[in-house]
Amino acid sequence: MITLTVDDRTIEAPEGSSVLSACLAAGITIPHLCWLEADTPADAPAACRLCFVEIDGFREPVTACTVTVENGMTVHTGTDAVRNLQKTALKLLLSVHRVDCKHCPANKACALQDIARFLGVGLTCKPFERVLKEPDVDPRHPVLDYHPNRCVLCGLCVRVCRHRHGKSQLSFAGRGFETVVGYFDADPGAAADCLSCRACLDVCPTGALVVRTGDDG
Ligand code: FES
Repeated sequence: MITLTVDDRTIEAPEGSSVLSACLAAGITIPHLCWLEADTPADAPAACRLCFVEIDGFREPVTACTVTVENGMTVHTGTDAVRNLQKTALKLLLSVHRVDCKHCPANKACALQDIARFLGVGLTCKPFERVLKEPDVDPRHPVLDYHPNRCVLCGLCVRVCRHRHGKSQLSFAGRGFETVVGYFDADPGAAADCLSCRACLDVCPTGALVVRTGDDG
């Protein structure tokens, strides 16, 4: 086991684990959206840019999901620099997010709401302009609807499907602002089983993927 200090607390973590997983296992809150339990620092995508921490000896804040724990490491999770980076990352996510919580199935079980509350950030995106994608709902999947304006592009759905089934029924598509999670008829037979699996639905932090009911939307 590795011993490190986090916010003046001594914790232990398995060798090879990330600073983020070590902190979370010790009950220390670090905002995060794109980390999967199976991630090692080498394969964490660091897509959400929320899990910043400061570590003594590092020149600047780093994403906790991509740094491996080391013996004697000293980590700070709540400095001004860390909070400013996290608030900016969250506001950028909100700037491309349809904030319509009352009509979202993830309302009150939404990681974005939890992180906003933790950071003391309102769900407006000031000072950034809000820009939304068209169309608001992508119905290409046989049984699921995808809402690009609720999606934070964490990639958890794509990766959990690949972990579970060896290849993913979902994939990123497009570039830049146009990036979405798409369904590409990779295996229509397998997609019919999505309702019994539900892994992507369970892991989605925001309600971007929902079972098609005919009236959601
Ligand atoms: Fe580290 Fe998203 S959890 S960048």
